Amino acid sequence: MERDVNQTHHGRLTRDGIRIHEAADFAGMRAAGALAAKLLDEVIPMIEPGVMTGDIDAFIERRVGEEGATSATIGYKGYRHASCISVNHVVCHGIPGDKRLKDGDILNIDVTVILDGWFGDTSRMFVAGRPSRKAERLIDVTHDALFEGIAAVKPGNTFGDIGHAIQSFVEGNRMSVVRDFCGHGLGRVFHAPPNVLHYGRPGTGPVLEEGMFFTIEPMVNLGRPETKVLADDWTAVTRDKSLSAQFEHSIGVTAEGAEIFTLSPAGRFHPTYSPD
Ligand code: MF3
Ligand code: CO
Ligand code: CO
Repeated sequence: MERDVNQTHHGRLTRDGIRIHEAADFAGMRAAGALAAKLLDEVIPMIEPGVMTGDIDAFIERRVGEEGATSATIGYKGYRHASCISVNHVVCHGIPGDKRLKDGDILNIDVTVILDGWFGDTSRMFVAGRPSRKAERLIDVTHDALFEGIAAVKPGNTFGDIGHAIQSFVEGNRMSVVRDFCGHGLGRVFHAPPNVLHYGRPGTGPVLEEGMFFTIEPMVNLGRPETKVLADDWTAVTRDKSLSAQFEHSIGVTAEGAEIFTLSPAGRFHPTYSPD
């Protein structure tokens, strides 16, 4: 967790340490979020069997710089890449490298940019070639689970309401929610309170207030929920080697509900492939 000690921030903190942002702050998040989402739109044509995940990351790193932004992940706790690329049974924090995609591989690409001091964090699923039907179903359920969570965002609801909406939807589809990683507050910092759990009980946890900024980023497994981190200290995989998927949006709480900061400018958040 980061603590924002260097900057003077407006707004206030709740008793749970969650920052309440002001109206003008939404504009900063909108720009950062749109850039992160645009970069994911731009990689869509690259996702084909034979491409190396390191090449996708190099493209993202170059484009972040060209846009006058900074990568939030390069240098973060020793991480050295502009994206995380998590293929098949990798749950999250996959390290881009010289591995080549194969036909039918499913992958999450997660990008966080810093633009004018604001953090935009988003990830979505891509497919190299043609997905299997079970992979396609996993991806659809994970996407829809994120939106079940977003639908629970409005002042007066709680973070437990978000987690419960996601968990009950995923388990109703006979899949499992990863417990070992969660969403997070963000804004002028990468990771801030609260932990946004993707499971939970209605009415529990902090109460949502207008001006809170956080991510929702459920990871869903076809098999069991348990994960383990590989010897590289980053790559998280499913213990049972089952396929895993994830989608992530950065959002702000408004008077009516949620504003999604990381909407795809091209309308390609899901699906990223042509289902024909
Ligand atoms: N973007 C990830 C998240 O959603 C964090 C990646 S940290 C890294 O919170 F160091 F692995 F890149
Ligand atoms: Co995140
Ligand atoms: Co992310």
